Parts: sequence; structure tokens; C-alpha cells
Amino acid sequence: MHLHKYEKIWLIFGIMALIIFLSVVGVSAFHQGHTPSGGHMKIDPDKVSETAPFDQPGVYEKEDGTYEVVMVGKAFGYDPGAVQVPAGKEILFTVTSSDVVHSFSVVGTNVNMMVVPGEINHKKHTFQEPGTYLVICNEYCGSGHHFMSTEIEVVE
Ligand code: CUA
Repeated sequence: MHLHKYEKIWLIFGIMALIIFLSVVGVSAFHQGHTPSGGHMKIDPDKVSETAPFDQPGVYEKEDGTYEVVMVGKAFGYDPGAVQVPAGKEILFTVTSSDVVHSFSVVGTNVNMMVVPGEINHKKHTFQEPGTYLVICNEYCGSGHHFMSTEIEVVE
């Protein structure tokens, strides 16, 4: 069988296009398997209670005198239910969710972050004034959303 000159050209063009297409798909698949999408830390939302630091939520004093509050949001509350931190010290809030999207919003401060299953979010804050601060969920998360809250007690 004798191929017409133009048919040969189109056949070669078609094969080359296929090779380019497959390379691009292959490269993208490789990238997805080896680099996390976005800059957030990832966590398996089904294994929050087994994954550090969320296996032990609570308040931790660090060597440099700052504090870390590790908290898990879930329908419809936060774990731990209430925390106590000192005034005038830098607090790093580290949060994730074990179910749906919530938020961790400390009333009267600029701490207002999303609590997302599969992601670890951070926010630093220093409470200058002692007192009781209300934490609320600003993301609609279901029937108990309006009751989802906790308190941070800031002491001298
Ligand atoms: Cu949790 Cu709204």
C-alpha cells in the first residue's frame, strides 16, 4: 500500500502529538504524586487522634518561653474544651478538623482561621489583657454550628 505524501505527514504529526500528550500527562501525574498541592501541612483527617501533635491536644510551653495551643475542631466543639494561657506571651495556635470545615475565631482578636480536615493551620497571637476570651466557629458546619464554641482563659 502506498501512502500519499500528505497522509504520511499527518500520520507523523499525529504520532508526535500523541507522544507529547503522553509525556505531559506522565509528568503531571509524577508531580501530583511527589509534591503536595499548596503550601499547607497535610494530615490524614481520619487519623487525627493518632497523629502528633493532635493525639494530645492541649497547651504546651516551649523552651523559648512561648506557648503552643494544639486544638482539634469537630462537630460541634473543640478539643480540649477549654484552655488556660498566660497573658503577654506569644501563643501559637495549631488547629485541624477531624470532620468538616470549621473555623477558630477568637472574639475581639485578629485570630480567625479556617479549621480544615486534612490541613494543619497556624496563627500566632499574644493576649495582652487577662480575661476570658470566647472562641466561636464562623463556618457553617451543621445543626450544632451556632453552639460550637469554647473559651480561652488568659491569666496573669
Ligand atoms: Cu463548626 Cu460551625
